[in-house]
Amino acid sequence: MNKLNSCAIVIFGASGDLTHLKIFPALFSLWDEKFFPENFFIVGFARTKMTDEEFRKTIIQSLNIYCRKKPVDEEDFADFSSRVYYLPSSYNDPESYKTLNSFINSKAKEYNIPKNIIYYFATPPSLYTIIIENLKGPSLVSDVYKGNCFIRIVVEKPFGYDYDSAQALNNKLLSVFNENQIYRIDHYLGKETVQNILAFRFANAVFEPVWNNKYIDHVQISALESIGVGVRAGYFDGAGIIRDMVQNHMMQLLSLVAIEPPALFDADDIRNEKVKLLKSIRPYSLNDIKDSVVRGQYDRGFIGGKQVVSYKEENNIPLSSITETYAALKLYIDNYRWAGIPFYLRSGKRLKTYKTEIAIYFKKLPHSLFGKETIEKIEQNAIIITIQPNEGIAIKIGAKSPGFKMQINPVNLEFSYKSSFKLTPPDAYERLLYDIIEGDQTLFARYDDMMIAWQFITGIIKGWLKLPEPGFPNYEAGSWGPKEADELLGKDNRAWNN
Ligand code: BG6
Repeated sequence: MNKLNSCAIVIFGASGDLTHLKIFPALFSLWDEKFFPENFFIVGFARTKMTDEEFRKTIIQSLNIYCRKKPVDEEDFADFSSRVYYLPSSYNDPESYKTLNSFINSKAKEYNIPKNIIYYFATPPSLYTIIIENLKGPSLVSDVYKGNCFIRIVVEKPFGYDYDSAQALNNKLLSVFNENQIYRIDHYLGKETVQNILAFRFANAVFEPVWNNKYIDHVQISALESIGVGVRAGYFDGAGIIRDMVQNHMMQLLSLVAIEPPALFDADDIRNEKVKLLKSIRPYSLNDIKDSVVRGQYDRGFIGGKQVVSYKEENNIPLSSITETYAALKLYIDNYRWAGIPFYLRSGKRLKTYKTEIAIYFKKLPHSLFGKETIEKIEQNAIIITIQPNEGIAIKIGAKSPGFKMQINPVNLEFSYKSSFKLTPPDAYERLLYDIIEGDQTLFARYDDMMIAWQFITGIIKGWLKLPEPGFPNYEAGSWGPKEADELLGKDNRAWNN
């Protein structure tokens, strides 16, 4: 098995949730699968005062909850964690970065590895600028030019708050690093089924010929959650679902479904196609925002038989909040392939179910041979790509029901990830960390595709400010969302795939 590159991984925000929920479970799984070489090490950098031992204890506790390798084998963990260190630090104190620099230098010698460093920004975004400024200082980023080593930066979302702030953050990063050193995480791109969209489209001869406006009627992309805002209320109330889910995850899903075939399966070719695609999204006028974008906020309701509070009643949410917890939009892509075909996107919290899927509906039959079975009665063909849960792909076709009459009913041709491959796909973060260490940027947003997505979303946000305040709450927790979202499709004689 090919081992990953030897490197040091520095985690800023090492005592925080993301580190414990996602980063360490993924790093440990990679270790457990024997991807890491013997010589690598991890340094936690955060404000909380802790020793290495105390830090390691917090990690094993989290692994036993969040890691897919749980319960964690103690000997294995001891081996892994002997490479894990912790530096209690202060983000705006240059001394902390000097200490980090000497620590990395001495450990790199001890482990006999080149000074390959991955800086993982797992802090609140308000600290990004301070960290970037300080990294410039004590040769923490410059040694790379002296030899054959690499420095990579991993940035988590939220990447900016709107177009201008995302631009400012990009400019800040690009003032110190090159684009090919920057890995902007969108964890949806690490999901196996998301990557499968490209395999499905471009590794099969049967689909691509019909993947266009001649055969496809419309596309639906849904990312539905039944959870509420939980402990992330402070962040979420300032963001809303449009920034939290649509600007990043949904725009990425849209790109993968709709891009032209790239010349090669490589980072730049794929990202060039994404840029072309995102540039072709028809911008909204204020009227379009009124007619084609629905926003919602959840009221009290029942999830899994249990009563849950409304959004405004959640801890740390002001009663006056008009933050949207649901958004649905209809958009057009003005290019040769997709001219005239609507794409409907929706995402929300506290909905009836947890599912992320892409549903591609084909046009109705031009003519029906089947007597009384009118064209209206025969359902449209559809391809349903389920990203989660129950990862798989189903193709809905019409088949004759057994019996003496010619009766056509919809049936599914199904591929399920679990039954075909008999294994659980790795967590998205495992795949993404693997690629970061290997230096493959294919599954990461590039400066320009991210900025085009921000431009589109910022247009909506600015439009909302000019429109009358929404009457929130407008959907019950445990429902499919606001009735206006059903009407959005209803007025086109279509319905969501619920
Ligand atoms: C995150 C959002 O990016 O994605 C969360 O900030 C959301 O609000 C989460 O719950 C959904 O991720 P997944 O992998 O559960 O679909």
